[in-house]
Amino acid sequence: MTETPITFPLPTHRPELIAFLSTRRSNLAKVMEGPGPDTEIRDKILEIAARVPDHRKLAPWRFVIFEGQARSAFGQHISTAFMAANPTAPADRAIFEGARLIRAPLVVAVISAPVDCPRGTPKWEQELSAGAVCFNMCLAAQAHGFGAQWLTEWYAYDDTVNAALGLTAGQRVAGYIYIGTPTTESAPRTRPNLENITQFWRKI
Ligand SMILES: Cc1cc2nc3c(=O)[nH]c(=O)nc-3n(C[C@H](O)[C@H](O)[C@H](O)COP(=O)(O)O)c2cc1C
Repeated sequence: MTETPITFPLPTHRPELIAFLSTRRSNLAKVMEGPGPDTEIRDKILEIAARVPDHRKLAPWRFVIFEGQARSAFGQHISTAFMAANPTAPADRAIFEGARLIRAPLVVAVISAPVDCPRGTPKWEQELSAGAVCFNMCLAAQAHGFGAQWLTEWYAYDDTVNAALGLTAGQRVAGYIYIGTPTTESAPRTRPNLENITQFWRKI
């Protein structure tokens, strides 16, 4: 039996994709609920997320998945770190902080994990690739009919929380991607005027 070869078609005009990208909005984590993606779709979302430009195929990123009880268990680390840094905060703030990941049924921490590349890919490029992973994950989740939001909030930058996440030297959180079922449409958001961010190069 001969296998059908996989083909990689040349780019074609995709009006549906253009319409999606032209109107795309993030979905607020605070108005998400279940269900989230099942295991198969979750893994497909992660596979797509990892399909990003990556100079020299270093895969300088990692995923940490939070589902079910893991969300509140990790939330305890967030809450404890917050209260340690803000000892006069009211007790209900501890509850609020502990419930951050509960906002969505699936949260994925995207870790930027740059390597020393003997062939010289700069760390900066590896970190940019981690950003591309975050956005691709949002797009992949939305393409599957889920809502997605890329958040860092304060705990992405907290050493204690990052230790609980398992980060090692040189690794950073590129984002927590919240994925779930949106309960409301996102309001339109003002976008930059192209004229304000674009110029034609001229010889100086
Ligand atoms: C690296 C990064 C971190 C972000 N962190 C937050 C955050 O902590 N809180 C927040 O409200 N939005 C954050 N955002 C913005 C949201 O992801 C999103 O862009 C915003 O809600 C606007 O939605 P839009 O994608 O429709 O423009 C972050 C964006 C990026 C790129």
